[in-house]
Amino acid sequence: MWEELKDISSIHQDRKTSLTGFTISDVVRSGVEVPSSSVGVYAGDEECYLLYRPLFEPIIKEYHGIDEIPSHVSNLDPHCLTSMIENEAPIISTRCRVARNLSGYGFPAGISGEKRLEVESVLVTALEALEGDLSGHYYPYDLLTSSEKEELVMGGYLFRENDKYQAAAGISRDWPEGRGIFYNKDKTFLVWVNEEDHLRIISMQKGISANRNIFSLSIQSKTGADVKAVFDRLCRGINTINKAFLTHAQTEFAFHKHYGYLSSCPTNLGTGMRASVHISVPGSFNDVQLKNTCRQLSLDVRGRHGEASEAEGGVYDVSNRQRLGRTEVDLLQTVIDGINSLITYKT
Ligand code: ADP
Ligand code: ARG
Repeated sequence: MWEELKDISSIHQDRKTSLTGFTISDVVRSGVEVPSSSVGVYAGDEECYLLYRPLFEPIIKEYHGIDEIPSHVSNLDPHCLTSMIENEAPIISTRCRVARNLSGYGFPAGISGEKRLEVESVLVTALEALEGDLSGHYYPYDLLTSSEKEELVMGGYLFRENDKYQAAAGISRDWPEGRGIFYNKDKTFLVWVNEEDHLRIISMQKGISANRNIFSLSIQSKTGADVKAVFDRLCRGINTINKAFLTHAQTEFAFHKHYGYLSSCPTNLGTGMRASVHISVPGSFNDVQLKNTCRQLSLDVRGRHGEASEAEGGVYDVSNRQRLGRTEVDLLQTVIDGINSLITYKT
């Protein structure tokens, strides 16, 4: 593998993308500088995926668990979900997010400070025009106080600072200029601006288990996770934002026929969607058993406070691992079916 990589890099070493001048060394910089990386590569713009395809493609296939990369098919119709998470599932909250970037601009690892501000301005114009339950306000990161940031981070609403992988990739340059968060009144629809991607569009809401003893939930009680409502809000948000870009900025989400929606990190290609529940897992599972069981169900396990965090108080973040090669509805259905299987292991 190392020999192959050396060959790839020597063939590509004189290349640069036309938009941001991203080289193959820029692509692998994070993985080289941070030894704990598990993926280690980032794209600085759309062209990286084409110019350095021999490097990216094996990583994409391995991460998403596919042998071939089919044409991307999207399905953002919540009515196509065939079942829901069972009522008694001890779900504390449900969240669905997609990663998106604007076509024609460098991605966060490759973009200049000036262009980043231009992206922010295009995004904010589109976001401030949202209506109904999606309407809200944009808060530039540097105008938030430390306690506001802390509260938003602890609530699971805001990205954290100092991601060492992103820093090594060049994503955190000029921090915090051009970054921010948009959210509606209830904090059920949120958009992160210029973090790992130009946009992370997020829909989330608490389940009733958030305020109750999970084991006292009766079969008649309302479901702990209204996945359909969360997905529906996300889909409306994605479609409305893309339309606004086309109308006001003559641009749209960066997209490739096979790789789907293009993201900075190859783990987020395709749908760009991670649908997660925070679930209070029955005590009979230890971390390793849970991870292995989830792997078999095509699910990923994280801690409660994001990717790098550990589980706390038996609460885990369980989500789809794969994002490319299947539709949004299929991936969400995998999460629903997986959680329904997981809760049967309780007894
Ligand atoms: P990403 O979702 O963008 O891959 P992370 O795993 O770091 O990134 O999660 C980002 C934030 O979202 C974290 O603060 C995490 O606690 C919060 N989060 C993720 N899933 C849920 C959920 N189901 N309910 C509430 N908060 C969540
Ligand atoms: N670059 C990091 C690594 O290789 C993160 C990979 C996936 N996560 C992400 N947020 N893109 O471990």
